[in-house]
Amino acid sequence: MKNTPIKKELIDKTIEDFQIADFAKATIREVQAIAANAEASSGVEFIKMEMGVPGLPASAVGVQAEIEALQNGVARLYPNINGIAELKKEASRFIKAFINVDLKPEGCVAVTGSMQGTYASFLACSQCNEEKDTVLFIDPGFPVQKQQLIVMGQKYETFDVYDYRGEKLREKLESYLKKGNVSAIVYSNPNNPSWICLNDQELRIIGELATKYDVIVLEDLAYFAMDFRKDLGTPFQPPFQPSVAHYTDNYILLISGSKAFSYAGQRIGVSCISDKLYHRSYPGLTKRYGGGTFGTVFIHRILYALSSGTSHSAQFAMAAMLKAANDGQYNFLDEVKIYGERARKLKDIFLRHGFHLVYDTDLDEPIADGFYFTIGYPGMTSGELAKELMYYGVSAISLVTTGSHQQGLRACTSFIKDHQYEQLDERMKIFAENHPIS
Ligand SMILES: Cc1ncc(COP(=O)(O)O)c(C=O)c1O
Repeated sequence: MKNTPIKKELIDKTIEDFQIADFAKATIREVQAIAANAEASSGVEFIKMEMGVPGLPASAVGVQAEIEALQNGVARLYPNINGIAELKKEASRFIKAFINVDLKPEGCVAVTGSMQGTYASFLACSQCNEEKDTVLFIDPGFPVQKQQLIVMGQKYETFDVYDYRGEKLREKLESYLKKGNVSAIVYSNPNNPSWICLNDQELRIIGELATKYDVIVLEDLAYFAMDFRKDLGTPFQPPFQPSVAHYTDNYILLISGSKAFSYAGQRIGVSCISDKLYHRSYPGLTKRYGGGTFGTVFIHRILYALSSGTSHSAQFAMAAMLKAANDGQYNFLDEVKIYGERARKLKDIFLRHGFHLVYDTDLDEPIADGFYFTIGYPGMTSGELAKELMYYGVSAISLVTTGSHQQGLRACTSFIKDHQYEQLDERMKIFAENHPIS
């Protein structure tokens, strides 16, 4: 056995100090803290791939608009709870420009990031009909969304889409929906953590079944248009970001400033409620609130209670970024393409040293290079691999926490620095020597 870059005892002791019985279940924050401690004690730099935080400068268009808004005095005023008019208008245009779907400005609601968007959506969806008390996750997914349901005491069900791609999705999805207890279906596309992208055939299935069983689809577009296999960045021209919005009227699109515009710090996004859903009334909402439609309850009851609106200046930033993108003056994807380049290089290194991609294809097409990818190593469980890689100064989270049933890790490209490819190559070479594949 060759020496590992970081002493095994140091990592084991740090994990023990954190009292983590099963490393496969360690949260992102725990992995991050253990890596930081081990880095400080050993003096060896970690290659940090656990956090899904944007690693790029914030969009200059947004920063400038926000500064101007502040100088114009918006901080003094409560923002309009519906979202400022300019943001609503540009969000509606953005959906037309990059998805090719018509959705009125009225339904485009400012939220303090997609996290608030899903929280408010989960609440609204689960209050519509008494018998529909369960949210269905098409997993793997973003662990905090399940945490949101736990916080609000709502039920959820989940399945790993790994074995149900393409037409197989229909039967699987229907097996849950036909029970009649599902209020909403949630998934991200491109997907955190696996970076699979559901295609039009699959989105059509989701849309058709959502209509058939009267279920609301929450389409989380946190990584909007970041499927770099196609150029989705030219406004009002195909190809467009695929969306369930083409196949059902029961949907909310969750668009975030955080990743596509590197604007996570300001907590800004838009939750876009379809025209039909916005105006629909539901027995559960009428009973609870004495009236209102899905859209008005979402805004005037739920968002009002949660945060009474979204940071005024950040709305100006988001409006300006969307407008510049819609006008074809700002190709936001150019700024984030670097994540794809990093993924390609990192994947090459891992594959060269005996690792494999866990989620490797969208049906017959290799997955895109993007913000995340998933890796496994023969004979190792998620927890074993996550822990073992820590000895080599590489931190990543186990897929167990994402609702995946596969063995492996999620690796995020956002914090990778240029000098770290060589470092990773050297370390994974030793890893492979220490773990020969029989
Ligand atoms: C799938 C997914 N949805 C939502 C979010 C959070 O978005 P926001 O920062 O807009 O709250 C993230 C962030 O990592 C994500 O990966």
